[in-house]
Amino acid sequence: MEKPVKVGIIGCGAIAEHLHAPDYAAAPEAEITAFCDLSKAKAERLAARHAPGAKIYSDYKAMLKDGVVDAVSVCLPNVLHGPVTIAAAKAGCHVLVEKPMATSLDEAKAMIAAAKKAGVLLMVNQSQRRFPSHRKAKEVLESGIMGKILHVTAMFGHMGPEYWSPTGKWFFQKKQARFGAMADLGVHKADLVRHLTGKEVAEVSAAYGTLEKKNTDVEDNFVATLKFADGTLGTLASSWTVKGMEANYMILHCANGTLEINWLPDKPLMAQLTKPECEIVFPMPPPPTNADAGWGLDIGGAFCRAILGLEAPYCSGEEGMKSLAVILAAEKAADTGRTVKVKI
Ligand SMILES: NC(=O)c1ccc[n+]([C@@H]2O[C@H](COP(=O)([O-])OP(=O)(O)OC[C@H]3O[C@@H](n4cnc5c(N)ncnc54)[C@H](O)[C@@H]3O)[C@@H](O)[C@H]2O)c1
Repeated sequence: MEKPVKVGIIGCGAIAEHLHAPDYAAAPEAEITAFCDLSKAKAERLAARHAPGAKIYSDYKAMLKDGVVDAVSVCLPNVLHGPVTIAAAKAGCHVLVEKPMATSLDEAKAMIAAAKKAGVLLMVNQSQRRFPSHRKAKEVLESGIMGKILHVTAMFGHMGPEYWSPTGKWFFQKKQARFGAMADLGVHKADLVRHLTGKEVAEVSAAYGTLEKKNTDVEDNFVATLKFADGTLGTLASSWTVKGMEANYMILHCANGTLEINWLPDKPLMAQLTKPECEIVFPMPPPPTNADAGWGLDIGGAFCRAILGLEAPYCSGEEGMKSLAVILAAEKAADTGRTVKVKI
């Protein structure tokens, strides 16, 4: 193998701790050479656990200038995704940016353009694409046994970001997060409905509200109805007020039966077919939850293999932008009370 990709992690909070750092540390294609966080203590804590020799920064610009990394993970509050991705691309670094990739389509386009101009890879961590149940579901749908997809239901909800990142107060501030549950969780399923069905959402109607969380100017609940370009219908929902076990599922009603992607351990992926009448349960681990330490999705290895040209990116900048466009259309639909066409 070529030399491992030298990777820096910018933002050493919850997602860096649960996903990026352990994944890079486990990937032979990657070597973590730098950690950056405004809180040096957080950066040092991750370094001690995963890459004791890595350099520690509190200023990402200094890290980019030092030339210690070939690639970065951007694990920062949402409004920083755009500016930091563009700065990293300009410094010649490949970027894996967290979801939602940007706060507007113009910003997403500028990120894609900056990466293209610099000749670096831009990927968006729509991590649900890497769940074993979702990868298997894609295989099942592409095999054709389910027949034409007619109706899709997708939901992602948990108790809220305060239970995920105890220091992540920014999730509740529009100035830093831009969206609440709508994009924090909703963009995962907006991406997944596109990715699994292979269809684009054409128009959306939606509603959102803040039903329970206090001291916030973002929504904690969101629902949308989707009409795909070929007429397929769907619903998309996300919530920060789901009590107990998180709700993380998708159901696809198809011409030959129903495919359920569950978070329940006994039936994580199940196809109920009418012709021939049968039930197929695909044994596999259920999707990781926010409570799991390390999700084993190999996102770091996949990013580095894409940089090295060994495999296709699991979610390109363009793909991330199309999923964001669904959420932005939904927001406009909710704000205007109208059906809104999804435009890039
Ligand atoms: N893909 C997924 O499944 C998933 C899951 C959770 C969160 N996320 C995304 O990851 C991103 C980060 O979320 P989180 O939960 O880790 O948040 P967090 O608040 O736990 O971590 C963010 C970190 O960024 C640091 N930071 C803020 N400004 C900085 C700056 N200018 N320079 C350096 N460091 C800075 C903070 O000190 C903090 O440690 C968000 O965009 C979120 O939507 C993705």
